[in-house]
Amino acid sequence: MHTHAGHGHGRDDGGHGDEGQRHGGHGHGGHGHGGHDHEDVDWDAMAALLEREAELRIPFVEEALAWLRGLLLEGGCGPDTVRRLLDVGSGPGVFTALLARTFPQAEVVAVDGEQGLLERARDRAAREGVARNTTTQEARLPDDFGTLGSADLIWTSNVIHHIGDQQAALDALAASVRPGGLLVVVERGLSPRYLPRDIGIGRPGLLARLEAANEERFTAMREALAGHTPVVEDWPAMLARAGLAPAGTRTFLTDLPAPLEPAARSHLRDRLERARDTLGEWLTPEDTRVLNALLDDEAPTGILHRHDAFYLTATTVHAGRR
Ligand SMILES: C[S@@+](CC[C@H](N)C(=O)[O-])C[C@H]1O[C@@H](n2cnc3c(N)ncnc32)[C@H](O)[C@@H]1O
Repeated sequence: MHTHAGHGHGRDDGGHGDEGQRHGGHGHGGHGHGGHDHEDVDWDAMAALLEREAELRIPFVEEALAWLRGLLLEGGCGPDTVRRLLDVGSGPGVFTALLARTFPQAEVVAVDGEQGLLERARDRAAREGVARNTTTQEARLPDDFGTLGSADLIWTSNVIHHIGDQQAALDALAASVRPGGLLVVVERGLSPRYLPRDIGIGRPGLLARLEAANEERFTAMREALAGHTPVVEDWPAMLARAGLAPAGTRTFLTDLPAPLEPAARSHLRDRLERARDTLGEWLTPEDTRVLNALLDDEAPTGILHRHDAFYLTATTVHAGRR
C-alpha cells in the first residue's frame, strides 16, 4: 500500500457512489486537524479498478468536453486564451489525457493526493502522446487548495464527496477560476446497472439492493470524514454560493449493451468482488450467496460467462462560470 505520513487512505468506487468502499476503518492524524482528512481506503490498490471504470466512460467525457469547450468560448475563453486546466482528484488520469487532447495549447495539471495514481496519469499521458502539455501535482485536500494556482477550467470528477466540507471545497476551487472560466463538478447521476432484474439466482433486484447498501456505505464514509459538514447536495446552488454563475447541468449516458467484451465483464467481476468485500454488513446472507455465485469463475452463472451482462450508467456534470 502506498502510504503518506499521517494519513489514512481514501478510495471509493470509480464513479458516483457505486458500491466499492471498505467500511469502518478510519485514517489517523492528518495535517494537524487532530482528525483524519482521508477515508481509510487504499487508492493505490484501487488504481486498476478506477482506471478501467474511467475507460468505460471515455465516450461520455468526450461529449462533455465538447460541451464545455463551447461554454468556454461563450465566456470569451477561446483556444488562444485557455492556458491552464486542472483535473482535481485525477486518479489515474484517464480524463486528464482527454482534457490534454481537447485543449492541446493549454497546460493540463493532474492533481491528486496519491503519488501512485499520479504516476499512472504520467504513464497514460506518455502513451496517449499528450505528455508535452500534461503535468502532475501531489496535493492533499482541503489543506493544499492554496497551492493549485489559477486555471481557466477546473474539472473535478467524483472527488468533492471525499472532502468533509463540500461547500468550502467548492469555494476554494471557485476562487482559483479565472474570469470567464469554468468550475466543473462531476457528481452523481445514476449508478451503474449491469445485470437484469432477475438473474435466475436469488431474489430479483440484486443491483437495486447493492445500490441501497452502497448509499449506507457512502453516508458512513462521509460522516467519518474530518470536518464533515452536512449540506443539501444541490450542486448548482452550491456553485452559485461559491460565487459562480450557473453555466449548465447535463447528464451523459454510458450505454454498453450485452453481450459485453470479456474485458468489460472482467471489470464487472472486480466490481462485484469489491461489493461483496465492502458492503457485507448491509447485505442479506442470501445476497452474499448470490454474489459468491456470480464470482464463481467455473460456474455458468458466473459474471465472466454471462451473456446478459451489460453496462448502463448516467453521469451528471455541473458547470459554474466566474
Ligand atoms: C473516485 S476517484 C475519481 C478519479 C477520477 N477523477 C475519475 O472520475 O475517474 C477519487 C480521486 O480523488 C482522490 N482524492 C480523494 N480524496 C482526496 C483528497 N482529500 N485529496 C486529494 N485527492 C483526493 C483519490 O486519490 C482519487 O484519485
